[in-house]
Amino acid sequence: MNFDERIDRSQYPTMKWSRAFLAGHFGNEAAIPMSVADMDLKAPTAVIEQLQKRVGHGIFGYEVKPESYFTALESWYQQRHGWKIARRHIEPCPSILNAIAILINQHSNEGDGVILQPPVFFEFRMVVKSNARKIVKNPLKLVAGRYQMDFADLEVKAADPHNKILILCNPHNPVGRVWTETELAQVAAICERHHLFVITDEIHGDFAFPPHRHIPYLTVSESAAQNAAACISPAKTFNIAGMVDAITIIPNETHRRRFREFAHRYQINKINVFASVATEAAYQEGAAWLDALLVYLQGNVDLIRGFLQANASDVSLIEPEGTFLVWLDFQELGLDAKALEKFLAREARIALSPGYWFGREGAGFARMTIGCPRQTVLRALDNLAAAIKRLPS
Ligand SMILES: Cc1ncc(COP(=O)(O)O)c(C=O)c1O
Repeated sequence: MNFDERIDRSQYPTMKWSRAFLAGHFGNEAAIPMSVADMDLKAPTAVIEQLQKRVGHGIFGYEVKPESYFTALESWYQQRHGWKIARRHIEPCPSILNAIAILINQHSNEGDGVILQPPVFFEFRMVVKSNARKIVKNPLKLVAGRYQMDFADLEVKAADPHNKILILCNPHNPVGRVWTETELAQVAAICERHHLFVITDEIHGDFAFPPHRHIPYLTVSESAAQNAAACISPAKTFNIAGMVDAITIIPNETHRRRFREFAHRYQINKINVFASVATEAAYQEGAAWLDALLVYLQGNVDLIRGFLQANASDVSLIEPEGTFLVWLDFQELGLDAKALEKFLAREARIALSPGYWFGREGAGFARMTIGCPRQTVLRALDNLAAAIKRLPS
């Protein structure tokens, strides 16, 4: 594994590197692409080899997920997170967002409130809106450079009987918090008191930087587990999002049966043979690759921290506890949200996700995807420092 290797992605229609995407969203097709949350790094060798082997077989008919898929998944979670997933609690689903959409429909009615904790992954807002539910905000608070949940506000929002669901992002995209057991227990207590269903999106769960440790929400307590569903996936961990594979864990039997009925009603029950092969190979053989990746990502964070302190002290790094995303605070530059967006894309020539995409609470910030060769991060930082120097003081 050589994470420094620069690989040309332009030959495939990736969202991140497509000129049309960069021109459309950033007004600059030459900006360095660091917005979409996938990595410019090759998947583990085992994944590539198993896919090649499967292609060589030459027949790609209807299949089911094999027993070995489930044992690989279960032993991954047992070994890395100490979470013993019961087989009967597993419901496969093509993608995390599919699962979230189903769960929203299952646990609320049109017009009901769904609580989000902005700044947060913008697709949550879209899936809530497209299912005709109301977005209710429980914004995170930035206290001394670290984001925290506002439990008093959550209690108020949870107590409103119109609000039925909390979507938890654990760990949190974009601010990089790896929620602690104490925090998650507080969430569980509030949600339990007010009968709020919790959808916990743990797609970034494999990215926790020591000493931080990812705590699967369903492990917090049996009662928390009975009133929640976890969405997990190998997509981010092994950079295989394009395979489209996810897993939903639903401990409550009634909830699980209804999830299955819903998936059946909309015929969301086919599987992709390549996705199964990739997931199984990743969970079976990807541990060393991921360990090396976590070290590499922390190296990228160290580079950013040091560089900003030395060359662009108006920009501060919100210290990530995990994920491969970095949340940068540009408020000192004194630009409004639109001006900052334009400055980054046109002057600094870097395509970062503008903070306001994650809710107005993110204005003045931007998210940088750092799952890329260190050289790319360095180029982006050089561009940024040079553009800041050109700003009128
Ligand atoms: C928190 C979070 N959830 C879900 C997704 C998308 O998951 P999927 O592609 O499985 O729908 C992303 C991708 O960026 C994400 O960051």
